[in-house]
Amino acid sequence: MTTPLNRIGVFTSGGDAPGMNACIRAVVRRAISEGLEVVGVRRGFAGMIDGDFVEMDRQSVSNVLQKGGTILKSARSQPFQRDPEARARAAARLREAGVDALVGVGGDGTFQGMSCLHDEHGVPVVGCPGTIDNDLFGTDETIGYDSALNTALDAIDKIRDTADAHERLFLVEVMGRDTGFIALACGIGGGAELVLIPEMMTDEAKVREKILSLMSSQSRSSIVVVAEGDEVGGAHRLAESLRADPGCAHIDTRVTVLGHVQRGGPPTARDRVLASRLGNAAVEALLEGHANVMVGVVNGDIKLTPLKLAWSRKKEIDYDLLNLTALLS
Ligand code: F6P
Repeated sequence: MTTPLNRIGVFTSGGDAPGMNACIRAVVRRAISEGLEVVGVRRGFAGMIDGDFVEMDRQSVSNVLQKGGTILKSARSQPFQRDPEARARAAARLREAGVDALVGVGGDGTFQGMSCLHDEHGVPVVGCPGTIDNDLFGTDETIGYDSALNTALDAIDKIRDTADAHERLFLVEVMGRDTGFIALACGIGGGAELVLIPEMMTDEAKVREKILSLMSSQSRSSIVVVAEGDEVGGAHRLAESLRADPGCAHIDTRVTVLGHVQRGGPPTARDRVLASRLGNAAVEALLEGHANVMVGVVNGDIKLTPLKLAWSRKKEIDYDLLNLTALLS
C-alpha cells in the first residue's frame, strides 16, 4: 500500500444483520490497539457521500457486542452503484477526513460499491461479509446468517405445535430474495415436509401433488418452507394457487411470513465469534498491506478473497441438503 495507514474508516451498509455491531467493535478495538485512529461512517454510502462521520474510540463500542441492528446505521444507496459523481464525492469526503483505508460490513451491493471506490479512487478497502442471506462467495458463513436461521427455526418450532394441533398445512415464508440458504437450513432443522428455494426449479403442479399426498397421510399436518425469492412467488401466492385447485381446496392452509423479524435480535454466540474474528482479520489484512479483498472463514480458517469475486461469483447451495429434506420428510 502506498499511503501509510494511520486512520481507517468503518461502515455498515445494505440489509442489517445481527453481529454487525460485534464486527464494528472488533474493527475499532483491534485498530486502536495497533495505534490507529478510527472514523465511523454513518448510514452506509449515503452517509459517506454526506460526510456523516464520527470519531470512534474503545468506549464508543462498549456494550454493543450483544445488540442487533447497527450502531452506525445502514442504508440502501442505489445512486452510489449507478452514479460516479456520488462515488467521487464520497472519496473526497474520505480524503478530507484523512481516512487512509476503509472496512465495510455488508453484502454484495456493499462490496460492489467498495470495489468502485478502490478501482476509481484508489481507496484501500476490505470487506467483512455481513448479510443474513449467506450468499457471498469466499466464506462458509456470513455475519447474521446463524442468528436469522435460529430466529426462523424458533418460529417454525412454534408453528409446528399449532399446525399439529389443528392438522393444518402451514406455508412459512423466510427471507432470501435470490438465495435459499436460510430456507434450506431451517427446513432441515425444523423438519419441514417441503422446501422451495430459488436455486431449484419449482413445478407448481408437482408441489400441489406433494402437498396433497402429505395432507392425506397419517400425520395430516405439514410445513412447507418457501424462500421469498422462489419462483412460486411467495407463500401467499402458493396458498392462492392451492385454494384455486379443486383437488387441494379442502386443505386447511395458513400462511406465515417471517419477514424482517429475521433481521433483528441479539446475535447468536456463533455470529458474535464470527463477527469478532472477521473484524479483527479485516484490520490485520490492511496492516499487512492487503486491499480490495473480503475476509471470510473457510473450513474454520480466515481466508482472503478478491472483493470482486465475493460479489460476482455465485455461492452454491448444498444440494445434498436439499435431497436430505426430501429423504427425511
Ligand atoms: O438482508 C437481505 C434481505 O434480507 C433479503 O433476503 C431481503 O429480500 C431483503 O434483505 C429485504 O430487505 P429490505 O427490506 O431492507 O430491502
